[in-house]
Amino acid sequence: MTTYKICLLPGDGIGPEIIAEGVKVLDAVGKKYGMDFEYSEALLGGCAIDECGTALPDETLEAAKASDAVLLAAVGGPKWDTTDPDKPRPEQGLLGIRKGLGLYTNLRPVQIFTSLADASTLKPEVIDGVDMMIVRELTGGLYFGERERFYDEEGAGVDGKSGQRAYDTLEYREYEIDRIARQAFEAARKRRGKVHSVDKANVLETSRMWREIVHRIHDEEYADVELEDILVDNCAMQLINRPADFDVVITENMFGDILSDEAAQISGSLGMLASASLGDGVALYEPSHGSAPDIAGKGIANPLAQILSVQMMLQHSFNMLDAANDIQRAITAVLDKGYRTGDIADASTPSDKIVGCSKMGDLVVENL
Ligand code: IPM
Ligand code: MG
Repeated sequence: MTTYKICLLPGDGIGPEIIAEGVKVLDAVGKKYGMDFEYSEALLGGCAIDECGTALPDETLEAAKASDAVLLAAVGGPKWDTTDPDKPRPEQGLLGIRKGLGLYTNLRPVQIFTSLADASTLKPEVIDGVDMMIVRELTGGLYFGERERFYDEEGAGVDGKSGQRAYDTLEYREYEIDRIARQAFEAARKRRGKVHSVDKANVLETSRMWREIVHRIHDEEYADVELEDILVDNCAMQLINRPADFDVVITENMFGDILSDEAAQISGSLGMLASASLGDGVALYEPSHGSAPDIAGKGIANPLAQILSVQMMLQHSFNMLDAANDIQRAITAVLDKGYRTGDIADASTPSDKIVGCSKMGDLVVENL
């Protein structure tokens, strides 16, 4: 029997609740396909700060590197919120593990489950046919550039004005854009063959370089793929104006963060959006949403994005395409039968059957 080692990072807030449902589904898949998933668990985020004083303990990165794939739930919460640059933040754990594992490609599929069409704030005819893949650069740009904060006296005098001063740096190297562009073109070839490359080339130097490199790779190696540049502000607008026109959307790190939350809303809830973070080694799978501290511990969180991230793991790390399809079909079936967690329920649809987090996981397993 094949055994895969999965490193679980439950994190904070609703993390432990939703990851349990991901594990439930993995175990069921393992049973059906004769695979064995072996789990280790490690600390990341706020819980790691409480226990070890740092959001990404060395042992966690080691455990992740020693596994075949990492399943992460969510990190963060008001307990650890701070604007003090010297205090640890849970998000540093997330950014640290992305960097530490070299996960430069972040895939965020946006799809519509037909029975959830009502959950979107957009009109049904607008979201009809939406099926896009956001390819977000994940280890460069503003997130990882040099940054600094200067307090009153140090900051004073720069322009004759007193007060604090701070900066963040947006920097990209050619190889970083080169490799993410290839990922996007490869993804497009397996899909509808169209790439929108997002930038702000009318203002930013990094964007002008981004555009040049993306076009060079396209012209030399991927001329069969349709490529269109789109400015990030216009993209934000077109995503809700004509979302079905997008196939693959490639963006730098920060733009991708913002646009993927927007795109999630097209599908009705951020609770439905999964993600895969890939590099040259171990990959990491996580929902695109956060730790939802306001509903943590209540058993009402939506585990579907976590379960969909398990699906992406089966697909990308283990090439178990049948199992991945099973999960897709099972989720569709459960939703078609009217089962909803609170976030995707529609008050005007009396046939909706509201269930909690664990029950939703059970239903997916029953329908596998
Ligand atoms: C995401 C999240 C993270 C990000 C935060 C929690 C650091 O918003 O995965 O989209 O900005 O990348
Ligand atoms: Mg985000």
